[in-house]
Amino acid sequence: MAEIELRRIEKSYGETAVVKGVSLSIRDGEFLTLVGPSGCGKSTLLRIIAGLEAQDSGEVMVAGRCVDDKRPKERDVAMVFQSYALYPHLSVFDNVALPLRTRRLSFAQRLPFVGRAVPGRGGIEKVIRAEVEQAASMLDIAHLLHRKPGQLSGGQRQRVALGRAMVRHPAVFLMDEPLSNLDAKLRVQMRAEITALHRRLGVTFVYVTHDQAEAMTMSDRVAVMTAGELLQVGQPEQLYRDPQDLRVAEMIGSPKINVVSCDHWISLGASLPPGIDGNTTHLAFRPEAVGIAASGDRRLNGVVTSVENLGSDIFLNVALADGCGAVVVRTHPDISRSEPGRPVGLQIDPASLLQFDGAGMRLRQAEQVEAAA
Ligand SMILES: Nc1ncnc2c1ncn2[C@@H]1O[C@H](COP(=O)(O)OP(=O)(O)O)[C@@H](O)[C@H]1O
Ligand SMILES: [Mg+2]
Repeated sequence: MAEIELRRIEKSYGETAVVKGVSLSIRDGEFLTLVGPSGCGKSTLLRIIAGLEAQDSGEVMVAGRCVDDKRPKERDVAMVFQSYALYPHLSVFDNVALPLRTRRLSFAQRLPFVGRAVPGRGGIEKVIRAEVEQAASMLDIAHLLHRKPGQLSGGQRQRVALGRAMVRHPAVFLMDEPLSNLDAKLRVQMRAEITALHRRLGVTFVYVTHDQAEAMTMSDRVAVMTAGELLQVGQPEQLYRDPQDLRVAEMIGSPKINVVSCDHWISLGASLPPGIDGNTTHLAFRPEAVGIAASGDRRLNGVVTSVENLGSDIFLNVALADGCGAVVVRTHPDISRSEPGRPVGLQIDPASLLQFDGAGMRLRQAEQVEAAA
């Protein structure tokens, strides 16, 4: 069992607060992703869990025990870095075997050349070889064990870094943007491989990325972070359908959620939805919640500025009148074949309108409150 609990973690560098009182419970065996823009403190938080960085205050619990006075090696966690951190002069085999040798061989046994003659080394090496080969075959790099990292592709290097973490059989894998050095196609393939690995190993994964699509496709739960704070933690579909904060709504989903201020809504002559909360300043709606109608009274009217045809979907970019912003509409090739310059009215499903106040906090319509209760 290796659940992780973060209790009011704070960290500053000089005057700058980088992690501002983060509390988070990560379940045993869960795939949890920390997602947020670059610089929001994700790596710092992960390094605090790993023990590579000390927090200023707060506690890190692993499997019910406080690990704050434990060194990284004693925490039963393994970290996989964006940069892979492989030793270029060592073969793939030696890179993967390294943590096992460090742990199991004595100082004398580890010495170059003479170490081989020290009693006991042969037997230990045999066990290590078997374990490295097992991890390598699971990751499909068994045929590369004799190569140096410089002779591998990015995806292969990433697998070697994973292998080196796997042989330690940690209770927790910590991964910091492990796919961001790969090209787009490989990144999508490796997403599936990492989630498959998680299922097979059944241990806790804490994964860091700035890429919301990675977070959404890979995770059991996602923790959304900005500027050192956790905004919301939930299952991917929960964050998509039920964001508690406008920043979460805007970070999750691609294309981005549409946001129109109530002032613009009114100045365009469109009627606000019935039962709207008096404190609402912004209304947000997903591209798939908008239909195209004839322009008319009481509608949000605009002009199509560009059309992106993806084959299965068409995205229309619609500029609202009087500089009141723009809206993206997702439609189907069979339904709408709009061209730039065409005036359109937007028909928005009232049930899918999300209301936010001036501070970006979510407000609920009466019937939405009932549905959520
Ligand atoms: N060792 C350090 N010294 C000073 N500032 C740092 C250090 N490490 C990170 N920072 C700053 O802390 C903030 C958060 O960094 P980081 O946790 O790496 O963010 P992320 O991983 O989300 O991109 C950034 O503004 C970064 O410049
Ligand atoms: Mg980072």
